[in-house]
Amino acid sequence: MEELKAEINTDNLPRHIAVIMDGNGRWAKQHGKPRVFGHQSGVKAVRETTEAAAELGIEYLTLYAFSTENWNRPKFEVNALMALLVETIRKEVKTLNKNNIRLAAIGDLDKLPGKSQKALQKAIEDTAGNDRMTLVLALNYSAKWEIMNAVKSLAKEVEAGKLNADELDETDFADALATKGMPDPELLIRTSGETRISNFLLWQIAYSELYFTPTFWPDFRKDDLYKAILDYQNRERRFGKISEQLSKG
Ligand code: FPP
Repeated sequence: MEELKAEINTDNLPRHIAVIMDGNGRWAKQHGKPRVFGHQSGVKAVRETTEAAAELGIEYLTLYAFSTENWNRPKFEVNALMALLVETIRKEVKTLNKNNIRLAAIGDLDKLPGKSQKALQKAIEDTAGNDRMTLVLALNYSAKWEIMNAVKSLAKEVEAGKLNADELDETDFADALATKGMPDPELLIRTSGETRISNFLLWQIAYSELYFTPTFWPDFRKDDLYKAILDYQNRERRFGKISEQLSKG
């Protein structure tokens, strides 16, 4: 474990890592257990990944915990997921504070059950003073929702004469997104072997390196995060330029 970590170049860390945590259900099936057991087991992976990211000095870690499409799952599973989220958030506040980690959330939070909203709000307030890393939970999130929301708020400002449509730029748009103020993720990880984006951070991942691993989320550990970061560090990020134009060092 320490060997892999030692290989990481701390001068070239992604500032923001986003994760699509996938494969809880398949992991549970493999173990002959109900799907909800997979989600419960995923909490350990959340803890390990958060701890590893903070220890390394990552500034933002965004986890896709519940998508707007997840409401279509059987009611029992949705309720269990919501309960698990509330319970986990409540339980982990102490650890977040001990580790100086701030909690934040992106998504259509007003549509979450009242209990979830309250637990989330409280945890966000209780950790607001922490500044080592921000853990962002994407809850009832979808990128198309976020983009539509941004379009509506900008349209209203144009309508009100506060903005000029012809002068709108990328910064105005980025500032209307839920991720306002956060750097775009340089690295996006998806577990469980699926190679889709599934409506996650579409604007923000324009230049992200994408990393896919067959590991199911409940099995994801610190070493798996280190491997993803090492893979990222071994790629050349060109942003449309050719190799020779990149300043070395
Ligand atoms: C995807 O696996 C996982 C989810 C939809 C939920 C993730 C939630 C947790 C790990 C619970 C705790 C999280 C936090 C942040 C407190 P899947 O159900 O889509 O798996 P499958 O594709 O194998 O069916």
